[in-house]
Amino acid sequence: MIELDVIDRKGRERSISVPPGGSLMSVLKASGLPIAATCSGAKSCATCHVFVLDGYDQVGQPDEDELDLLLEADSYREGVSRLSCQIQVTAALAGLRVEVAP
Ligand code: FES
Repeated sequence: MIELDVIDRKGRERSISVPPGGSLMSVLKASGLPIAATCSGAKSCATCHVFVLDGYDQVGQPDEDELDLLLEADSYREGVSRLSCQIQVTAALAGLRVEVAP
């Protein structure tokens, strides 16, 4: 299991333990966080937007399509914004700290 720290839109932080595999969007949704993910991971809605506060180097940079979508979001923050549907959960993400974007 992989430990992640997550912050919801009310600023409440908690740790969740998730198995490797699947997307970060899926595990956040399964943990009850308010991720709409209306396009189900097709990289077209940005409702899975998160801020990667610790571990951005581990998840890597968004590709061009993802960055284009993120740049349309009012809450975009350079260097921390990612679409959680585009992040695969692997052991390398242990200790990741993410906040659900407004
Ligand atoms: S779920 Fe739609 S962009 Fe991630």
